[in-house]
Amino acid sequence: MPDGTHTTIGQPAIRIDGRAKVTGMARYASDEVVANPAHAFLVTSAIARGRVRGFRLEAARAVPGVLDILTHENVGGEAEKPQPMSGGDTTTTLESDRIWHDGQIIALVLAESFEAAREAAHKVEVDYEAETPAASFGSPGAEEEVREAGEHKDYKLGDAAAAFAAAEVKVDARYGTPTQHHNPIELYTTTCEWRGGKLTVYESSQFVYGLRASLAKQLRMDPGDIHVVSRFVGGAFGSRGGITARTAWVAVAARRLNRPVRLVPTRDQGFTIVTYRAETRHHIQLGATRDGRLTALRHEGWEVTSRPSQYNVSGTETTARIYACPNILTKVNIVHADRNTPGFMRAPPETPYMFALETAMDELAVSLGMDPVELRRVNEPERDPATGKPFSSRSLMPCFDQGAERFGWKRRNPSPGAMREGEWLVGWGCAAAAYPANIGPAACRVTLTAEGRARVQIAAHDIGTGAYTAIAITAADRLGLELGQVLVELGGTELPAAGLAAGSSHTAGICNAVAKACEGVRQRLAQAAVTSNEGKLAGLDPASLTLSAGALRGPGGAAEALPKALARAAPGALEVYAENIPQGLPPESIGKVYQGQMAMSRGHSREDATTYTFGAQFVEVRVHELTREIRVPRAVGAFAAGTIVNPLTAYSQYMGGMIWGIGAALHEATEIDPHAARYVNDNIAEYLIPVNADVRSIEVIMVPEQDSQVNPLGIKGIGEIGIVGMNAAISNAVWHATGRRIRELPIRIEDLL
Ligand code: MOS
Repeated sequence: MPDGTHTTIGQPAIRIDGRAKVTGMARYASDEVVANPAHAFLVTSAIARGRVRGFRLEAARAVPGVLDILTHENVGGEAEKPQPMSGGDTTTTLESDRIWHDGQIIALVLAESFEAAREAAHKVEVDYEAETPAASFGSPGAEEEVREAGEHKDYKLGDAAAAFAAAEVKVDARYGTPTQHHNPIELYTTTCEWRGGKLTVYESSQFVYGLRASLAKQLRMDPGDIHVVSRFVGGAFGSRGGITARTAWVAVAARRLNRPVRLVPTRDQGFTIVTYRAETRHHIQLGATRDGRLTALRHEGWEVTSRPSQYNVSGTETTARIYACPNILTKVNIVHADRNTPGFMRAPPETPYMFALETAMDELAVSLGMDPVELRRVNEPERDPATGKPFSSRSLMPCFDQGAERFGWKRRNPSPGAMREGEWLVGWGCAAAAYPANIGPAACRVTLTAEGRARVQIAAHDIGTGAYTAIAITAADRLGLELGQVLVELGGTELPAAGLAAGSSHTAGICNAVAKACEGVRQRLAQAAVTSNEGKLAGLDPASLTLSAGALRGPGGAAEALPKALARAAPGALEVYAENIPQGLPPESIGKVYQGQMAMSRGHSREDATTYTFGAQFVEVRVHELTREIRVPRAVGAFAAGTIVNPLTAYSQYMGGMIWGIGAALHEATEIDPHAARYVNDNIAEYLIPVNADVRSIEVIMVPEQDSQVNPLGIKGIGEIGIVGMNAAISNAVWHATGRRIRELPIRIEDLL
């Protein structure tokens, strides 16, 4: 459990919303009460490419309770397609007759009950004009495109080709990762209700202001006339970051029927109506001296996307800045196929890209006859190798050293297949983890009332990560209150804006904004106390006063109870609104968040420093010598992420990432029918994720780290990094157990026969 030696804010706390969640009091989007809703059921395309020639709707309309059926023929002009958060173009749904991918929304059936809508949806008959689709890499008709230089950079330092050709020791290999789907437990529901010209949308979201802005554009409305509500989120992992097509059509349906409409799509529809992690391919070339110093690092990636989209995650931003190397070349290409548009999924670029690099590093260690941990030490850079900027802090080697110590790494026999126990081949592997310390602007309102309670309002998102609790911990600490005296309101566009809960940026963004508003409260109380004619704090320096344990306190034990201090400053309630603009962003960036745009200071985009979270992961695998089944009895992850707001939920977050890594490396893949370009295991019976029996010992070490440069509270973010090194650590351990180097995920029994 949490070791308590790292920097924290306040005390570790169990989730303040935990009771509401386990007692059913927490209202997820489809639990929100609306009067007399109609129910929607989606009809999705059975072909992956072509056009809808027409519908035959008589049988569907004859189902008792059916109210309306929306298709491109009757509502096509009422909404525009959504803007993907990542920019660029995307596929259409009811705007036209065009089919871009299997499972595309082509009609919405509306009925008095969910059952009637579902029955009628299955009776909708569609005439298609079908064309042959391309499913993925290598399919006839898939188009490769050299990616336009966008937000992510390709790096070209020195002459990587020449350095590679001249290198004493080389690795030249290709890697691949599969399609994966987020599969949060909460389905992708949407409920819309109109009152006059104003629309309320209940939809779980990682960015309520973004959802509002995109929807307003799609429906040609004033964003101020839309209220987005998302109080609880049943898992997201990137799937609820950007708006998807369904939302606008539910709003259109509710307007046509003049009554609220609720959509609860099925699990399998969730595979095609939102985003997913695209499959990737990688070509890596590493060149090194005999003593292990990298002389050349080339990383070229390929990612699948839809026909019209330019979406790519481009993980070379990270792989170019892990190791000291004078010659670096990176490049990312996209491949268009007849697929839905992909998007962010937990540790969006690093999960696939670091798998390739960190497996290649292990291969290099083997070629050099060098310990993999020592290979990292030899290549530890003084500065960001891609840009020459300093790191605000970098604890990669402390993570490796503490992880290795806990794991018992020095007992490893480096020869593959040399360690065994009974019929099991034992393999030990490790890998580095890295993720940019991103942060977004956020606004916050804190109200202190005469009863000595605080209300914190911020349009943050608790996607299961514990944001309610992190906010409460920060406010309680800064205001000198008990956790139970802080009421947190989040998840709605009626609140001061906060950015996207993604890219491990959210805790840093929102907690810094909360702390800033609380500092405003302290200043107001202090100013009133010191300028008063009476009281123990009169005449003191306001900067010397702090709030703790229910009082405003000065030097030498002078104190005034909070109600008294408050009465001087504001007889009723004291309200402070504050906006926090992270270093590296212009003041207008908070305005962008209110307008629903992504504004994020990224770990690799700041002028003054590169800000990254680092970790090291160690894994033991066991491969049965006869059946070749693969087990992961033990994993150790060591991470340094600056200030940890709540060690209790941080521990769970890291552990969850590591468990997901076991799934990503060994189980998880969305299989695609290469002829139909259709996902075939689109359910959580056949889309395999780890269960308890797949997970044994997971240990998390929170390596102490203080970083006063990254942001005022020193928070680096931990949402993604737990998964980042796991794929490579497991594949490296499989090599160590068996001598077989598996470069395509997931690793399965058949790969080891
Ligand atoms: Mo995370 S995939 O950036 O929600």
